[in-house]
Amino acid sequence: MPSPNADLRERERAWVQQRQLAEACRECPLGARATQTVWGEGPLGAVLMLVGEQPGDQEDIQGRPFVGPAGQLLDSAFHDLGWDRSNVYVTNAVKHFKWVPEVRGKRRMHKTPAQREADACEHWLESEIALVRPRAIVALGAVAAHQLLKRPVPVMRERGHWFDRADGRAVLVTLHPSALLRTDPAARELAYTAWLNDLRLASRFARDDRRAALRNRAASGTPSPRARAARGT
Ligand code: URA
Repeated sequence: MPSPNADLRERERAWVQQRQLAEACRECPLGARATQTVWGEGPLGAVLMLVGEQPGDQEDIQGRPFVGPAGQLLDSAFHDLGWDRSNVYVTNAVKHFKWVPEVRGKRRMHKTPAQREADACEHWLESEIALVRPRAIVALGAVAAHQLLKRPVPVMRERGHWFDRADGRAVLVTLHPSALLRTDPAARELAYTAWLNDLRLASRFARDDRRAALRNRAASGTPSPRARAARGT
């Protein structure tokens, strides 16, 4: 059996390789129209993984998941729940932005990926799960839930519930933050509170993430931010 340090280094190597391979992916038509592949972000060994649908306009430009308006709402939820985003692995079911031009205007409008496009990306998401090895996964919206649970998921009926995947990992189903952004402003606050209540069911995993982050830092020899600050590096 490899030592924990060697195992983590091997997984890091494989993760970088997968990310590089995905950059050239043309297994469906989406890659050719996107600016770049948006791979997941966060520590290997994170206890909790969050999976969205696909990158949006900003994510496509910046090359990072959840940095646009939906990401800002997710960051508010992290803040309100007391979760540290840097300890959680955040990714998407589909790695390229699917868009159509606005009818009269210049903006690129998000378009939901077809099932065959999501399926073409399935092995990338599964490779991230296999390498990160989260104990629990939050599915943000129907596309993520379908890809994680391998069945269509009626999100409004199954939100706030845990389901087991074939690999034994627990999946919590909830709404995608973009659904909240589309909610009538008068109802948005209530919708946000209900969403936080769903996400809170994963709080114990987010708490375990803090411990995992310390363990992984020790295993990889990376000093903690506190140790770096003390050293002035
Ligand atoms: N919506 C998603 O599902 N993922 C992102 O990264 C951004 C918006």
